[in-house]
Amino acid sequence: MKIIHEIYDIKEQIKKWKKEGLSIGFVPTMGFLHEGHASLIKTASKENDKVIVSVFVNPLQFGPTEDYSDYPRDIDHDSKICRENGASLIFNPSPKTMYGDKNYTHVNVDTLTNKLCGFSRPGHFQGVCTVITKFFNILSPDKAYFGEKDAQQLAVIKRMVKDLNFDIEIIGCPIIREKDGLAKSSRNTYLDNKGRQAALVLNKSLKSAHNLLESGEKDLSKVKKLIKNNIEKEPLATIDYIEIVDSLTLQPVYKIEDPILVAIAVYINNKVRLIDNFTFKIKQVK
Ligand code: PAF
Repeated sequence: MKIIHEIYDIKEQIKKWKKEGLSIGFVPTMGFLHEGHASLIKTASKENDKVIVSVFVNPLQFGPTEDYSDYPRDIDHDSKICRENGASLIFNPSPKTMYGDKNYTHVNVDTLTNKLCGFSRPGHFQGVCTVITKFFNILSPDKAYFGEKDAQQLAVIKRMVKDLNFDIEIIGCPIIREKDGLAKSSRNTYLDNKGRQAALVLNKSLKSAHNLLESGEKDLSKVKKLIKNNIEKEPLATIDYIEIVDSLTLQPVYKIEDPILVAIAVYINNKVRLIDNFTFKIKQVK
């Protein structure tokens, strides 16, 4: 798999592709790729002539006490996943290439970013929006692919693209899960055996909430309570948040009208923070 590290080189490659009239799909990642990323790459390669996967652990989106330096990295493994799923090349810049000695310009989407993960990770989405804006400017893709597991990130990026008039289609791809329901995440590698078992509480509690909604429950406080009770039964789990919000604006909702996002973040063993979610829409009765 071809790996490009420099902005000048990738821009030259893109110029050639554009001259030939080829479409470009972009899959941004922080590496340590798993089946979730593989499905984004596979979808992108079905829908575009060329697919660029960025592998860049973005320092701007990590808080001072977060896992930036420990974040798992394995470019050989990433190359294999990219090759097997139809990527054309990997863009793997260094932090210095992306930000020089210091980055003075930041992109901030307000309102959507101060709740859910944004509340417990201040500055996180500013870091994400800044790096994604830079990638969009460097790579000029036609389409960019994001996982629905990071539902807030997807909503924020869609809003940013609309507000800043990027001519890029943002595609959300479904959550990929382990056989037992745990959402795939690079951070799952931090879990020990007991933690791995405890982490199943995320998907299980969301499933029971989904069943309750399917059965016709309209009182969203009951749905939240059910999730809370389920998670609290797991001794290794600590709730960061349980939120039910409008799936596009991320504003709290008290009635189900437009599609709602039920999203949770849970610490396992007080240190591994995992997220999961589902979107629910009332079936239209004809
Ligand atoms: O979802 C991620 O892995 C990151 O937030 C992203 C989109 C690659 C930006 O660094």
